[in-house]
Amino acid sequence: MLTATAGNWVALCRLDALQDDEMQPFEAGSRRVVLYRIAGEVYATDNVCSHAFALLSDGWLEDGLVECPLHGAQFDVTTGAAVRGPADCPVERFETRIQDGMVEVRITEAG
Ligand code: FES
Repeated sequence: MLTATAGNWVALCRLDALQDDEMQPFEAGSRRVVLYRIAGEVYATDNVCSHAFALLSDGWLEDGLVECPLHGAQFDVTTGAAVRGPADCPVERFETRIQDGMVEVRITEAG
């Protein structure tokens, strides 16, 4: 079980467990996080859509955009920005780093 405190780096999975153009959901502390791998780079955002309650990891990932399965909003996984409605707010983006082959995400607790 993962635990996290504000601003802590948390290891979520091995880098080689995440393939290009793939996303995987995780829970870290109080946060639901989704990892994305795009062209070898790893990105992380909150997994809950900013429009209503749906998990982005249940949607679709294509060309660096994740599409919400409920109403079709799209977010840029590199920034968290909403690029297609009905969502008009971004999802939180988390910093990522690779340490000893593990993907780590800097988690901030939900406010
Ligand atoms: S819940 Fe994601 S677009 Fe509505």
